[in-house]
Amino acid sequence: MCVGVPDCPAAGRGFHGGGGVGGWLGGGPWRKDKRRGRRDPPRTPFFRRADVTSLCLVMKSSGKLHRSNVFAQGGRDHTAPRPPRGRDHDQPGGFHENEASMTQTTAHGVVSSRDTDVEEPYSNPHVVNPMAEVISKRLATLANAPIGRRQALRGLGALTAISVLPTLGAVGAAGKAMAATNPSTLSFKEIPHLMDQDHHVAEGYHAGVLIRWGDPVLPEAPAFDPTHLTAAAQLKQFGYNNDFLGYFPLERGSNNSSHGLLTINHEYVDRKLMWSGQDPEGIDSQTEEQINVEMAAHGHSVIEVKRDGDLWSVVPNSRYARRISTLETEIRVSGPAAGHDRLKTSADPTGTRVIGTLQNCAGGVTPWGTVLIAEENFDRYFNGATLPPAEERNYKRLGINGKPDYGWYRFHPRFDVAKEPNEPNRFGWMVEFDPYDPTSVPVKRTALGRFKHEGANVIINHDGRLAVYAGDDERFEFVYKFITKNKVDLANPAANKDLLDEGTLYVGKFAADGTLAWLPLVFGQGPLTPENDFHSQADVVIEARRAASLMGATPMDRPEDVEPNPVTASIFMALTNNTKRKAEQVDAANPRATNEHGHVLEMVPPGGKGRAAKHEADLFTWNIFVLCGNPAKPEDGARYHPATSEHGWLSCPDNVAFDPRGRLWISTDGATKFGYADGLWAADVEGEGRALTRHFYATPTGAEMCGPFLTPDGTTMFCCVQHPGDDKDSTFDAPSTRWPDFKEGMPPRPSVVFITRKGGGEIGG
Ligand code: FEO
Ligand code: CA
Ligand code: CA
Repeated sequence: MCVGVPDCPAAGRGFHGGGGVGGWLGGGPWRKDKRRGRRDPPRTPFFRRADVTSLCLVMKSSGKLHRSNVFAQGGRDHTAPRPPRGRDHDQPGGFHENEASMTQTTAHGVVSSRDTDVEEPYSNPHVVNPMAEVISKRLATLANAPIGRRQALRGLGALTAISVLPTLGAVGAAGKAMAATNPSTLSFKEIPHLMDQDHHVAEGYHAGVLIRWGDPVLPEAPAFDPTHLTAAAQLKQFGYNNDFLGYFPLERGSNNSSHGLLTINHEYVDRKLMWSGQDPEGIDSQTEEQINVEMAAHGHSVIEVKRDGDLWSVVPNSRYARRISTLETEIRVSGPAAGHDRLKTSADPTGTRVIGTLQNCAGGVTPWGTVLIAEENFDRYFNGATLPPAEERNYKRLGINGKPDYGWYRFHPRFDVAKEPNEPNRFGWMVEFDPYDPTSVPVKRTALGRFKHEGANVIINHDGRLAVYAGDDERFEFVYKFITKNKVDLANPAANKDLLDEGTLYVGKFAADGTLAWLPLVFGQGPLTPENDFHSQADVVIEARRAASLMGATPMDRPEDVEPNPVTASIFMALTNNTKRKAEQVDAANPRATNEHGHVLEMVPPGGKGRAAKHEADLFTWNIFVLCGNPAKPEDGARYHPATSEHGWLSCPDNVAFDPRGRLWISTDGATKFGYADGLWAADVEGEGRALTRHFYATPTGAEMCGPFLTPDGTTMFCCVQHPGDDKDSTFDAPSTRWPDFKEGMPPRPSVVFITRKGGGEIGG
């Protein structure tokens, strides 16, 4: 609870607990002026595809943010502590964490009476206490070790985890000297931490809006009318809250970087910003049409895009254009759970056909040109106070508790487990489809396991098989690996259509000696037997979390994006935060209690770089790439490259991506809690600039950053601005920003952004 900030709108809402609000700008008391946050500033009209002014205007020569200039730009004190976002969507149940007595926001942005801290702090009941004291001593020893010693440790195969990064606060003159020479290969001029109503990109780059919620996708789509939303229109228009996106060159198999398809997830909706006068808690008062609009706004879009100079635009009336929605798209189920009794419903007695996909968060692309889209927090949609006894343990582990954040069950009984007890087993999968064929039927690939999939990213193994890496985004959940049984056929994309149905699913167990064991989740092996209610591989994948717990997997600090580096073949995992981790629960891979800022962890397969890597190996090594947070604050325990600037540190890493040189790009979700906007940071992963994170892009207020994804030549970066304006008390009628239109009456609109370098060239330099 906020107790020391007079008039703070977050008082009692579970914010300010981190002590980091205000950041290096000095913080200061919250200056309450609600109108500021709601008033549109005077500004030039919005031009679609227009350049975005770079941030040099708000930089002093010292490189620090100029407070008065920030006010002038945004009409709001962006350096003051901010109210909470309407929803922390990445936290199952929307937990706001830094409170002894937690509150919860619903998907519609209002604190509910559900005290999940007491009843259900997280779903995994098997969290262990792995050697906290030993780890603590190891950390202390390494933090004080000379850099050469740490590098030697890294060179020895990362025999210990926390080995490689000194604290920025301790670098002194040596660090300043390194900063002066900038050992990073990334040459762009950083932007500062800031937050206002617009987005911002580094000087010398264009950031333009490509497509917004409500823009046409299908040829016959009507013009967007925010005062009259209909399901029929929404099914043809761009959906809400874009998250993952992938770029697919045209023609298929080419490296065309100026003409291709964009495939984009629509994770969830924010009704307080979609409708005027909407009671954000009123899931029981919504009309059937409103609920159908919500269902139509979920899912996925495919659009055709083209580059012209430094700008990109959507190709109208494309033959590839497609909308996938929860309302009407039929999806096939494949793999070990397909047709199982636990997936059968009255509408689908075969257990092989599902209408729709839910909470499509991050995702990935395959080498044969298909999309992988994740089903994350699907528990939010299911009503039913009494769970079916046969599935009670299963559903509880996934957070299904009869208190949905959406009222869909009122008109679509399949979302009421009292009426359709098996429907939740039909969500929580990875979905694959072919974007080049708008008639292709998406497929839920059950062999990859069922949990709150953040995404899935792939790399071809040394032996030609495919390795898939995936995170389960909830506190104390796990990281997974899947190795296909058969090889990828790059010459014949159609030959791979069932590749993801057969293989071995593994879960990660991290040891303090810097090794990572992959434990197979295979029916009949270890504890995965009838004695523990596993009667087939279908049971194992349906209850992958429970199977993983029984195998002894390491509970992590919310594994979000997990992605192999195509150059080095090591795998980077964003662990976004976990303030519920207690001191006695700290381990080497999750080394901080009350982990507010998150960290990025690198997993290294044996065998060598690139195609030499042996992803099928049972034993990897691992190390922590960065411990996020403010390195100037010792209490954060942050660790970066010593030359990291005062703008270069970050919080709450969510998505990761790699440019063609294998450099890491990180998008964040949760920095707003610390007084600055979410955005994009980039770093080398090798050489003298390793882990020197640099700040490239900032979202408008209330938003999180999703993506990014680069064209094959690395000259365009696409990313998604999700839930702009999702601030406390921000509504359709009085939003905290009207980005990107900045037009009276137009609400903020989740949008896809393209970034190019003025005059051409690689993103990042
Ligand atoms: Fe939807 Fe875990 O982010
Ligand atoms: Ca995410
Ligand atoms: Ca990614």
